[in-house]
Amino acid sequence: MGNLKGKDILTAEQFSQEEVWLILRTAERLGDEMKKSLDLLRGYILATLFFEPSTRTRLSFEAAMHRLGGEVISVAQAKSASSAAKGESLADTARTVEQYCDLIVIRHPQIGSAQEVAEAASIPVINAGDGAGQHPTQALLDIYTIWKECGRLEDLTVALVGDLKHGRTVHSLSALLGLFDVRLIFISPSALATPVEITQRLRARDVEIAESEDLAAAALESDVLYVTRIQRERFEDPSEYERLKGSYIVDNSLVQRFKEGTVVMHPLPRVDEIDPEVDSYPGAAYFRQVRNGLYIRMALLLLVLGKA
Ligand code: CP
Repeated sequence: MGNLKGKDILTAEQFSQEEVWLILRTAERLGDEMKKSLDLLRGYILATLFFEPSTRTRLSFEAAMHRLGGEVISVAQAKSASSAAKGESLADTARTVEQYCDLIVIRHPQIGSAQEVAEAASIPVINAGDGAGQHPTQALLDIYTIWKECGRLEDLTVALVGDLKHGRTVHSLSALLGLFDVRLIFISPSALATPVEITQRLRARDVEIAESEDLAAAALESDVLYVTRIQRERFEDPSEYERLKGSYIVDNSLVQRFKEGTVVMHPLPRVDEIDPEVDSYPGAAYFRQVRNGLYIRMALLLLVLGKA
């Protein structure tokens, strides 16, 4: 089995299949043990530094630490509420925060920011989203959800839908799925296609991928439909966002086209890309996916701190 003790979690590409299974099995065990009082991280402190908005990632990391008996220090609007607002560098922030805690979780708008923090800090650093780059812990909870919902991680067709250019969750999830026998269909408007370096890396690893703009066709053959938001905050030209928003809507008329058992996922937040009428469809897994994020982040805290 892999060993994550003391490691930074910066990109989905750092994981072997063995390490993914270690995290998934640990999360599964924690899900089963949630009713017990877990005191495995008593005496440990987690720092969460969020320079971009978040509901799920920050709160699930913090809830995970509390559930494990540890403590949390947090800056939720770090851009304005930390000394970054006075011009402090990210490296100096990292060298300061590490004096107070055992582990840093950071979200920041710049690609590569978590790597920069990891290079400055001597304690483990977890990337909670670096701009349009990576979101590896989301990918882990996503693949965990696919495993739990579908019962397997092989012989699956997964359609990744929406803003694949800016969507860090799909950048990370496609890398993790590429470790397994999974076919990927990327569905986006051409202006929001998956960055070519990502598709090239997947093809170089012999991952079966297809690119299309046709959601209705993909819906017929997919085991999983992973839907993402068009990310307004990443557009330089607001009129381009206005042109592309609403490109894909999953509603009950699309659900009628699914093969039996198709699972609908979304990293959330959603805007209009999944109609609330779909929420009662049994395969709508996006709130179960949120819950899985708690188990995965508990597993990561334990593994990185060497307490699993
Ligand atoms: N999925 C996700 O990263 O959600 P938040 O932005 O709310 O953390």
